[in-house]
Amino acid sequence: MEFKSIAIDGPAGAGKSTLARQLAEKLGFIYVDTGAIYRTVALAVLRAEMDPKDAGQVAGLLGGLDIRMDYGPDGEQRMFLNGEDVSGAIREHQVSGLASQVSAIPAVRDFLLDFQRRQAREHSVVMDGRDIGTVVLPEADVKIFLTAAPEARAKRRLLELQQRGQQADYEAVLRDIIQRDEQDANRPIAPLRQAEDARLLDTTRLNLEQSLEALVRLVKEKIEL
Ligand code: DC
Repeated sequence: MEFKSIAIDGPAGAGKSTLARQLAEKLGFIYVDTGAIYRTVALAVLRAEMDPKDAGQVAGLLGGLDIRMDYGPDGEQRMFLNGEDVSGAIREHQVSGLASQVSAIPAVRDFLLDFQRRQAREHSVVMDGRDIGTVVLPEADVKIFLTAAPEARAKRRLLELQQRGQQADYEAVLRDIIQRDEQDANRPIAPLRQAEDARLLDTTRLNLEQSLEALVRLVKEKIEL
């Protein structure tokens, strides 16, 4: 059986995970949130009390990590670190910044590359991240670069945090988003950028429903549904 793959890349807060999850559900594909995998490594670095910028130390940690991914009864992707379900812990604010830092380390990216590719070899996937269309799945059937203005992304992120009962203020969230964009786009290895054959979808002025409609339209241009 031939599996299909849809790669969705873009900056933090563009709506990738929500849209990718809904698209996967619509198509009967599995949704792979690759940011969650980087976050799991970041959590391991945090727990080991390592400097996330110390590439040598972080690289040394990787061999001893048991990272697994599974799907709960609700279809949600769950992450396991050395047997422990860390799906909640990796969403902590502190882990976001750390994930952005550790993901700039080449050894971390190499370590996770095959893990990600394996998912696409074994299933039809909607995979989201920063380098899926450019590095992880360069042969993806559909490539989308999903973006929105930083202010729109900050507003959405703020709402998401508030819904989870977390305290946050708009200025801090916006600052954080701009800083992560910088880090993710300017790293020398696998920087965030639109693949040449990716279609751009800017959701600044679209709500979720309109964004999903636009996304499905782009997918339908490339694969028969
Ligand atoms: O999508 P996210 O916010 O959960 O991702 C967390 C960090 O992981 C993000 O700042 C950059 C990094 N990341 C990456 O470098 N490559 C990916 N494919 C996915 C995430």
